[in-house]
Amino acid sequence: MKQSSAKLRAARAQRMPLRGKQKMILRSRRYLNLEMPVRLLDTWLTPVELFYVRNHLTQPRVNLPEWRLRVSGEVNPFELTFADLEKLPQATVTNTLECAGNGRTFYRPRVRGTEWTRGAVGTATFTGPRLADVLHRAGVKAGGKHVAFDGLDEPSRKVPDFIRSIPIEKAMHPDTLLATMMNGAPLTPEHGFPVRALVPGWIGAASVKWLAEVRVLDRELDGHFMKAYRLPKRPVAPGEPVSPEEMAAMTALDVKSIIARPGDGSRWKLGPLHITGAAWAGEADIVRVDVSTDFGRTWQPADLRREQAKYAWRLWDFTWTPPATGCYVLLSRATDSSGRRQPLLPSWNPGGYFWNVIDQVRIHVVKA
Ligand code: MTE
Repeated sequence: MKQSSAKLRAARAQRMPLRGKQKMILRSRRYLNLEMPVRLLDTWLTPVELFYVRNHLTQPRVNLPEWRLRVSGEVNPFELTFADLEKLPQATVTNTLECAGNGRTFYRPRVRGTEWTRGAVGTATFTGPRLADVLHRAGVKAGGKHVAFDGLDEPSRKVPDFIRSIPIEKAMHPDTLLATMMNGAPLTPEHGFPVRALVPGWIGAASVKWLAEVRVLDRELDGHFMKAYRLPKRPVAPGEPVSPEEMAAMTALDVKSIIARPGDGSRWKLGPLHITGAAWAGEADIVRVDVSTDFGRTWQPADLRREQAKYAWRLWDFTWTPPATGCYVLLSRATDSSGRRQPLLPSWNPGGYFWNVIDQVRIHVVKA
């Protein structure tokens, strides 16, 4: 009797803390981090139910009638209500959002942090006024060089406030939004209701959720979460300590592809096999994805699906008939419009960021 109630409690504890996200992998409950199982990736736009969640702190509750967006710093300060934002011209940007730490778990030596594998990424349409329209109204002074976003999530005893800045050029870009909608519906609480920054093509951390303040600064923000998302300026040895002066803030995403299906370790009957996945490149475009089925000896181009938009991933397909039963490793390698190609080996870094090594899954082909 005792044992079965303990089992019941354990089962309940395992249950997904967020309604509608039952299919996700729970990476941590406090603070909430949910990863998309990549085998479920089969649509260009990721449904909100499958969109990863990355929270550094407790999600705030927002009362919309009381909510204001403060615009401050090197401007003539003012406040906006949600209705004010809705009255501004609206723009829609389709963006692949990826957490900089996606793939961290593959680094050796291991790096501390959320143990993302491949699913801290998703693509959605984001709609809202352009940040540039709000900044123009505020009249940015000559000294305004960076724009900091402060979210409503409160610092805890161990984790400082989540504030991040981007350079003024990116803030003024017409595709940088104060997004109020995701996939045509109001933002859900976990994705930043009522308003989040959308900094397209850049690491997910730039797109601050639950916005409370947009502050124009004369220099890059010097806060905890600016120091956190940094990469060494030169390649370093795995495990080597790197001083803060040798690190630079991360901006746009690198080129990357993942194999969504078949799943790693899966078994297939001998016959034609449909391989599918996604590829993205931040502010650049994917120009090709190549697949290897013979341990990287030869590569053949995959078919890129039609749906495309600047900043959004391309889905791709490749059909292959294994020559015989056995164990195979499938590899995918993307190339982008700026000439970047996925590397063969990782460039280790202390934060475990930007994992974009050629993707691989091992499959077992059995008798038909
Ligand atoms: N904004 C706030 N206020 N607090 C956060 O913890 N996490 C950031 C960013 N914006 C975060 C935030 C990180 S690290 C990522 S990768 C994205 O939100 C994730 O967005 P999502 O949860 O909507 O997928």
